[in-house]
Amino acid sequence: MNIIEIIEKKRDNRELSVEEIRFFVRGVCDQSIPDYQISAFLMAVCINGMTDGELSVLTDAMAKSGDTVDLSYIDGIKVDKHSSGGVGDKTTLAVAPMAAACGLTVAKMSGRGLGFSGGTIDKLEAIPGFRTSLSEEEFTRFIKRDGIALMGQTKNVAPADKKLYALRDVTGTVPSIPLIAASIMSKKLACGSDSIVLDIKCGSGAFMKNIDDAVTLAHKMTAIGESGGRRMYAIVTNMDQPLGRAVGNALEVKEAVDTLKGKGPKDFTELCYIIGSFMLVAGQKANNTVEARKMLEATIENGSALNKFRRFVENQGGNPEITEDYGILPSAAVKRPLWSPCDGIVTAIDGEKAGAAAVSAKAGRLSKTDKIDFGSGFVLLAKMGDRVAKGQPLAEIYAPDEKSAEEAEKRLSEAYSFGNKAEIKPMLLAYTDGEGIYFDKDKH
Ligand code: URA
Repeated sequence: MNIIEIIEKKRDNRELSVEEIRFFVRGVCDQSIPDYQISAFLMAVCINGMTDGELSVLTDAMAKSGDTVDLSYIDGIKVDKHSSGGVGDKTTLAVAPMAAACGLTVAKMSGRGLGFSGGTIDKLEAIPGFRTSLSEEEFTRFIKRDGIALMGQTKNVAPADKKLYALRDVTGTVPSIPLIAASIMSKKLACGSDSIVLDIKCGSGAFMKNIDDAVTLAHKMTAIGESGGRRMYAIVTNMDQPLGRAVGNALEVKEAVDTLKGKGPKDFTELCYIIGSFMLVAGQKANNTVEARKMLEATIENGSALNKFRRFVENQGGNPEITEDYGILPSAAVKRPLWSPCDGIVTAIDGEKAGAAAVSAKAGRLSKTDKIDFGSGFVLLAKMGDRVAKGQPLAEIYAPDEKSAEEAEKRLSEAYSFGNKAEIKPMLLAYTDGEGIYFDKDKH
């Protein structure tokens, strides 16, 4: 067997054997296959796709390429959530304490951001002192005592994915349904949760740009999880514009805290209730999503979600006083408004362009080694459907220096479109509970 034949087979759209896929994953991990051949293989998959059989073998080989995490010593149903990635997606920061305040055990591993979408670990590290690297003893103690802990992937979880994801990011091969499914599900299967809630983002701010692709991805990931013995739920949510108003690490922490205080943006708050509801049903803390939503709303009204967040931050070495004094969080040296160029209604805010603006402001990375500025990013003052007047501020941009602020301003202005009417879709576009896919949210 050799890698050139495997690349040629995929190029010609012929089905790979189990041995060929395992040979490829082994070669990725032991570095016997050079980056240029891995990249050629990824591009062939990106163009020709994979059969369900190939996808299942690829995911399994990637999941077994490193360590696995055993959470069986923790009582109860462990529920994980994972988003397919999008601009301004800070959901874990708010939904994890909300769900934990309802009695669910949230033992989570999260990743860093790469490209135009941000990562939970980077956001949490914006909190002074916060540690995302915990010993197993600490992780277990926090979970058992407070029902919540989060750490970065310090263990060697799915190293094949680490290598493949880094190459995909620089070879234009990220938005591929089988590659995304294998990437996310290999990590999920290597971690020890019993049930997984997947949030598949759909729209200009996401890798899946249309509902058909998003639903296909939901089906494929659900099938992989179920064959790995997990109870799966997948929701497809709208990402036609950045989520909430804040994009950038410290800015998103503030927005998540505002949400825990009941003062968050409407779209983001709604998403937290949707995902949290599925998590509570998955963890058997609620009989249905209607009951679950009421429980989650109560955690905001009675302050228990905010208290859980404070405890979570304190456990992991961060200063819980950030919830009362946002001045403790890092701030950017330069702040400048983005002015509206015309009168009209905001009809679109292209997520990918907005994500690129955040990277220009130094809130995200272009390459793995880039340093991010935790205080940078932007806050959208005008979102889709808002009427604006010429010269009115559309957003506030935060950056470490004038040059980055100027670049971010230019990119963010390109993200905005104006017209007479905006078509605003609901947040929940579709969901599956493993039995079927539903487009009508009232059925659940
Ligand atoms: N998140 C992942 O972990 N992998 C992908 O391919 C896309 C989003």
